[in-house]
Amino acid sequence: MTHSKIIGTGSYLPEKILTNQDLESIVDTNDSWIRTRTGIEQRHIAADNEMASDLAVNACLKAIESADISIDKIDLIIVATTTPDMTFPSTACILQNKLGIKDCPAFDVQAVCSGFVYALATADMFIRAGKYKTALVVGTEIYSRLLDWSDRSTCVLFGDGAGAVLITKSDQPGILSSHLHANGSHYNTLSLPGNISHGKIQGNPFVTMEGNTVFKFAVKVMEEIVYEALSENNLQTSDIDWLIPHQANIRIIRSTAKKLGISMEKVVTTIAKHGNTSAASIPLALDLAVRDKRIKPNQYVLLEGVGGGFTWGAVLIRW
Ligand code: ACO
Repeated sequence: MTHSKIIGTGSYLPEKILTNQDLESIVDTNDSWIRTRTGIEQRHIAADNEMASDLAVNACLKAIESADISIDKIDLIIVATTTPDMTFPSTACILQNKLGIKDCPAFDVQAVCSGFVYALATADMFIRAGKYKTALVVGTEIYSRLLDWSDRSTCVLFGDGAGAVLITKSDQPGILSSHLHANGSHYNTLSLPGNISHGKIQGNPFVTMEGNTVFKFAVKVMEEIVYEALSENNLQTSDIDWLIPHQANIRIIRSTAKKLGISMEKVVTTIAKHGNTSAASIPLALDLAVRDKRIKPNQYVLLEGVGGGFTWGAVLIRW
């Protein structure tokens, strides 16, 4: 039977760091509030001349290098992003061009903070169906450009960055299962309503959210999706070696781990240094834990995300 498995990871964070102390001079906030309520200490901010595809290129080159394969083996590119370079074409096409790849399908996936999980699940399906052999799956975001920097309830939460994985056809899993959900009745709870129409931006061009509603929903589904993934594979929470959740808020992550009875020592967190990088947060955390050698062969790694839509999902991996 054909499976897919991850053979390389990479990530990239823009050079500029914005600390909580820096934010104190921008909005009425303070380091203590941000740390206590969110776990965030700092976030990275893209340079004016950097686009989501540029962040992605840097992450992808590292993933390709770590997989030690020739770039011309890549026959599928999927980019998860909420902050595309342009309305069209897709950031995946721009990335393909920047990487010098001549011909392969390339498209974006829009599932906000669950985007990487959606993209990885999609690539896995294509590979398992025998259609493609080696896929580049990327999460890349520049949220700093979607924020109202006078709104302290949102501007302190997000950061910029990119993460990428290379997955390839394999006789052994690899990716054991993926689980995707959406409930569009919540589309207004976390959104950026603005759109381009008749040459103008119509509607609010900044991230808006009902923080408490998002928080409660995230804690609920982050627990449920883990049980769904484990049940399909006849595994228990004690079998999970590494939980890599979307990094939105350390309190969401801690609550999820506590409800599942998983020690925080088995949870990879980057929220303190990265903030919430939306679709990039899971591959950024995964790359960190691969490179510092926390993740070892044969271990069970569970990726899980939740985001606007609402969307949520998980991918269970035998590393
Ligand atoms: N600095 C100081 N005070 C602030 C700030 C700030 N940056 N932001 C809000 N406050 C104030 C509020 O005005 C309020 O003051 P008041 O009591 O005088 O009215 C007080 O802090 C409490 O506000 P709450 O919104 O109730 O604070 P809460 O503890 O719920 O934390 C937070 C807010 C951090 C946004 C939380 O609800 C949260 O993390 N929700 C999840 C949202 C999220 O993560 N979104 C990211 C995208 S979604 C995703 O990735 C899944």
